[in-house]
Amino acid sequence: MELPFAESFRIKMVEPIRRTTRAEREQFIREAKYNLFNLKSAGVFIDLLTDSGTGAMSDRQWSEMMLGDESYAGASSFFKFRDAIKDIMGFEYVLPCHQGRAAENVLFSVLVKEGQIVPGNSHFDTTKGHIEFRKAKAVDCTIDEAFDTTLAHPFKGNIDLVKLEKVLAENADRVPFIIFTITCNSSGGQPVSLANMKDVRQLADKYGKKIVMDSARFAENAYFIKVREDGCQDKSIREIVKEMFSYADAITMSAKKDAIVNIGGLIAMRDKDLFDKASVFEIIYEGYITYGGLAGRDLNAIARGLYEATEFDYLETRVRQVEYLGNKLMAMGIPIQQPVGGHAIFVDAKRFLPNVRKEEFVAQTLAVHLYVEAGVRGVEIGAILADRDPVTRENRYPELELMRLAIPRRVYTNNHMDVVAAGLKNIWDRRNTIKTGFKIVREAPIMRHFTVELEKI
Ligand code: F0G
Repeated sequence: MELPFAESFRIKMVEPIRRTTRAEREQFIREAKYNLFNLKSAGVFIDLLTDSGTGAMSDRQWSEMMLGDESYAGASSFFKFRDAIKDIMGFEYVLPCHQGRAAENVLFSVLVKEGQIVPGNSHFDTTKGHIEFRKAKAVDCTIDEAFDTTLAHPFKGNIDLVKLEKVLAENADRVPFIIFTITCNSSGGQPVSLANMKDVRQLADKYGKKIVMDSARFAENAYFIKVREDGCQDKSIREIVKEMFSYADAITMSAKKDAIVNIGGLIAMRDKDLFDKASVFEIIYEGYITYGGLAGRDLNAIARGLYEATEFDYLETRVRQVEYLGNKLMAMGIPIQQPVGGHAIFVDAKRFLPNVRKEEFVAQTLAVHLYVEAGVRGVEIGAILADRDPVTRENRYPELELMRLAIPRRVYTNNHMDVVAAGLKNIWDRRNTIKTGFKIVREAPIMRHFTVELEKI
C-alpha cells in the first residue's frame, strides 16, 4: 500500500479554540453589524480572515526569540537578519520594517513621484494605496487568463508583455519601475513563472527601468515554479529563489507571510545609492536602520523563518493543505478560482449565489452565511472592498465577487479544512433559497470594508 501524504511537522504547543452554537453566532454577527472584521476572535472557530501574521512559529524560531539582541544600533540580530537575506535572496543592502506596507512607504518615498505610472501584475491594495497616495497611477498588466476563474493556467500571476510594452512605450519617462507581486494575491495567490520574470527583465532593460518585487509570498511562488514550470523540477527551492530575485533590483516584503512570523517586513536592494536614500525615510518612519520598527528577537525569528520557508518539505505541506481544501470544494461542485493558489481559496460568490443582486453584496452575503453555518471567518473581496468611485461616489461593482478563505501557515489540520468544506456544502445545498443580502447603514469615506455597518434586507 502506498503511504499517504502527511504533514512535515508535529505539534508541540496548542491553543484551544471553541466551537460556538449557531444561536451564539447569529447573535455575534448581528452585534458585529454583519461585518466580519467586527467579530471578536473568541467567537470564531476557524479563522481564515488572513494568512498574514497568523502562522505558527517553529520551536527553532521561538528559541531564536530568546537570543534576540536588543541593542539600539548594530545588534547581532540585525546581522543575522541581513546575512539570511543575502544568503537566500542575494541582496547586499537590507532595511528592516515593521510590516509590508511600511516597506512600501519607505521605498516609494524615494522612487514614486506625482504623475508617474507604475505597471505591474494586480498590485496589492496597500501597494496601490502607496502609489496613489503619491498621486501616481498603478496600471494592471496581468495576463487576461487571470480574470477567468474557470480557466486552469499554471501562472496566472504573469505580466502580459504586450500590455507592459504599450505602457513603457507610451510613457517611457513617467515609469519609475515595474512591480511584480509574487505570488499575486489579488488574482488569487497565483504565481509568476521564471520565464515571465526573464522576459519582463529584458523589457525593463530595453527601457532602462528597475524591477521591484513585492515578495510577501515569494517561497510559495518558488514552489509553484518547481512543480509546474518546464525544466525546473530538478532545481532546489533555494536555487529557484536566487534566480527569481536575480531579475529584481529591489524587493519589499511583508515577513508576516513567507517568513512565518507574527510581525515584520523588509526592503532589500542591490544599489548603495538607493539604500542611502531609503535610509533617510527609514529613520523618519520606521526607526534606526538596524532595527526598523522591530525588536531584535523579531529579526532573529524572521532570519530563521526565511530558511524554514524555503525548504521543499515545508512548502509541500503548506500548499498541499490549500489544495486539499480546494479539491474537496471542487468535488462538491462549488465554484472556486482555478487552479488553487498558494495561500487561499477564492470562492466565486456570483456563481455560488446567483439569486443575490450585486447591489446587496454577494460575497459578503456568502461570508456571513459561512460564519453562521460553521464558525468559519473568511473575507469579502467584492463590492464592499471595491468602495465608491472617488469622483462620482457611486458604488463600484467589480467583475468578480470573491470570498477569500486564507489558510494560516502550520496552524490548522485537514480536519479543520473538512469543517470548512462541510459548512460551504450545506450552504451550497440550499443556495436557491438565499435570495437577499445586505444594505450599508454606515461607512467610512475610504477603506470602508474595515468598519462598514450592514443590515439584512
Ligand atoms: N503585499 C502583498 C502581496 C500582501 O498580500 C500584503 C498584505 C502586503 C503587501 C502588505 O503587507 O500587511 O504586512 O503591511 N496582505 C494581507 C492579506 C493583509 O490579508 O492579504 P502588510
